[in-house]
Amino acid sequence: MKGVILAGGLGTRLHPLTKVTNKHLLPVYNKPMIFYPIQSLINAGISDILLVTGGNNAGDFLRLIGNGKEFGLKHIDYTYQEGEGGIADALKLAEYFSAGEKIAVMLGDNIIEKNFKKAAEEFRKQERGAKIMLKEVPDPERFGVPVLDGDRVVRIEEKPDNPKSKYAVTGIYLFDNTVFDIARTLVPSDRGELEITDVNNVYIERGELTYDILDGWWTDAGTFASLNRATNLVVKTGANKL
Ligand code: G1P
Repeated sequence: MKGVILAGGLGTRLHPLTKVTNKHLLPVYNKPMIFYPIQSLINAGISDILLVTGGNNAGDFLRLIGNGKEFGLKHIDYTYQEGEGGIADALKLAEYFSAGEKIAVMLGDNIIEKNFKKAAEEFRKQERGAKIMLKEVPDPERFGVPVLDGDRVVRIEEKPDNPKSKYAVTGIYLFDNTVFDIARTLVPSDRGELEITDVNNVYIERGELTYDILDGWWTDAGTFASLNRATNLVVKTGANKL
């Protein structure tokens, strides 16, 4: 299974900081944000990694990460997302890299305390489909939210006004290679983006989506409040043994 980190976007929720740099290069305590998802993929047993960047200062990723040696990697791949087409649009750039394999996708602004190694191992054995990671949160309306029937996810709603569960769909997604066919069928949402939630809903309709609950704390870092929270959590408990 290969790994893909999505680190494009314009980061408008972090203006003016992101007027002069890419969101994923901003510090979370003593490391650039992007270091955390790279380490998370490695901790999950994934070392063949593509970094999808975009927007401002894409060249700085190369200066910062180079060939990935600092992380113990033999090499790391890069590509560039033009425009602001959303998460599922960025994912399309990973098709060539995936070379028919399953992929573990992590959003570049997601930071986790522990790891998802067990889920990744289970997904390697899953014949087809997708696996998502859920986490209970106090503010599900900020995220993709699963609608549950017993312990089955029957639908995911993107940033609903009235969340039907207390879980967020975290930005860690395990997909089989049909994800690229699904991405080609999507139409832009009201915010003008191809939504990862629409991808997951196709897997649900096919009866091919499984999930796991993420162990340890999880946060995004794409707003001032969540960036501050991420920093505080890292200071307090560390993350990913970085
Ligand atoms: C994205 C996804 C959302 C998911 C979240 C996790 O939201 O659309 O479903 O819960 O990442 O961080 P965005 O950060 O694009 O608003």
